[in-house]
Amino acid sequence: MRIAVVGSGYVGLVSGACLADFGHTVICIDKDAGKIERLEQGIMPIFEPGLAELVAKNRRDNRLFFSTDLEASVKGVEAVFIAVGTPSRRGDGHADLQYVFDATREIARALDGPCVVITKSTVPVGTGDEVERILKEERPELEVSVVSNPEFLREGAAINDFKRPDRIVVGAEDQRGRDVLAAIYRPLYLNQAPLVFTGRRTSELIKYAANAFLATKITFINEMADLCEAVGANVQEVARGIGLDNRIGSKFLHAGPGYGGSCFPKDTLALIRTANDHAVPLSIVESVVTANDKRKRAMARRVITALDGNVRGKTIAILGLTFKPNTDDMRDAPSIAVIQALQDAGARIRAYDPEGVEQARHVLTGIDYAPSALACLDGADAACIITEWDEFRALDLKDIARRLGAPILIDLRNIFRPEEATAAGLAYSSIGRWAAGARDAASLSAAPPPLGAPLAATKKPGA
Ligand SMILES: NC(=O)c1ccc[n+]([C@@H]2O[C@H](COP(=O)([O-])OP(=O)(O)OC[C@H]3O[C@@H](n4cnc5c(N)ncnc54)[C@H](O)[C@@H]3O)[C@@H](O)[C@H]2O)c1
Repeated sequence: MRIAVVGSGYVGLVSGACLADFGHTVICIDKDAGKIERLEQGIMPIFEPGLAELVAKNRRDNRLFFSTDLEASVKGVEAVFIAVGTPSRRGDGHADLQYVFDATREIARALDGPCVVITKSTVPVGTGDEVERILKEERPELEVSVVSNPEFLREGAAINDFKRPDRIVVGAEDQRGRDVLAAIYRPLYLNQAPLVFTGRRTSELIKYAANAFLATKITFINEMADLCEAVGANVQEVARGIGLDNRIGSKFLHAGPGYGGSCFPKDTLALIRTANDHAVPLSIVESVVTANDKRKRAMARRVITALDGNVRGKTIAILGLTFKPNTDDMRDAPSIAVIQALQDAGARIRAYDPEGVEQARHVLTGIDYAPSALACLDGADAACIITEWDEFRALDLKDIARRLGAPILIDLRNIFRPEEATAAGLAYSSIGRWAAGARDAASLSAAPPPLGAPLAATKKPGA
């Protein structure tokens, strides 16, 4: 099948490369000429494991092409995916659909035959109807089906997620739309990936419901972590204890500094706006958004507490900036709020991230970037792990303690064991864990607080 993908960002580029790998002929389009130029030179504009190899292979086999020229590229294609950004609209949190509608108009003008237009971008309920309206308005004579096919891939594992999805959701209002999507995904379908056919509006809502549910799960375990700290329990064991229940599941139960990234923050907000517009209260999602926003800055307070309440003039080594490992994406990363709050309190920030520094330079100011994790630690007054890159897990705890000016480690991702960190000479603070024999950086005693003791009288680790 001949397919065009409009927007060659994280989703468009990965989708295009994977669809080409299924055997389709794919042209990926982007307005950003620099991006397309780099892609033509074999340079990936994003960091995504395995992507460079996949793109190279499919270009070699003449199945994958790049262009800035939308008009020429969509001629003769059977399907066009729209994979442009849908960021939060400034001011009100609604999804900003200008890129989707602009792309739709351009597609409408360029099409020269029957086609299926597929929204892969995350778009609010009813957007497919508007895309269809625009197409019909611009080109009433054309035979076009509009289908919703939301994407569930995770950055950092995007290729595997695209090729081995838990499900493929297809929201179509006509048989042609369903048939074309079934043909596109035939290789996955043969591989037993469930295709969920539904109406277009339902499909659009499935994507938001999925992200809101996952954000809720993260926020739930984060609040449980705070409770663990107050009552002397261990959140990792609570997560395991509940996650083994199949009705709950173990994924997305890792306590940390709050969710971030290019999807959860904007999608939860957009879902709330949609619900408000329809006078439907979404009180759970609203609470999740509020709790998560507060949490990010609260993480900075943990660092400040670990340094006895004063970070003015002190150097904090930040390990990890991206919103999660194996990506260079800094959009809404928790590190931004944590670092800004520390800077507000007078701290100097030295940071290291294996892939995120280039993007971080656009969103953070006044930071010294270190060339390696070890160089970042040298002489700092404390270290704080914000993103759980594997290379941080491999660091030697004794080495960390030796290199730091003051051996204080705040681990917002629980990548180390408290007893081992303590044994290495670190004043160690993590999320939601009491450990027998471990002395947390901010705790006075290793013993859990007595049950029933007034909370104010007990000092929480890292609180
Ligand atoms: N990033 C993810 O992990 C992820 C996962 C699932 C769904 N999504 C959704 O997918 C969509 C795209 O996200 P992304 O992270 O890939 O965004 P992105 O910002 O990385 O990429 C979007 C690209 O579209 C291009 N573009 C915009 N308008 C264009 C036009 N008219 N013609 C050609 N190119 C145009 C931009 O230049 C940019 O390169 C969003 O709706 C997002 O919510 C993202």
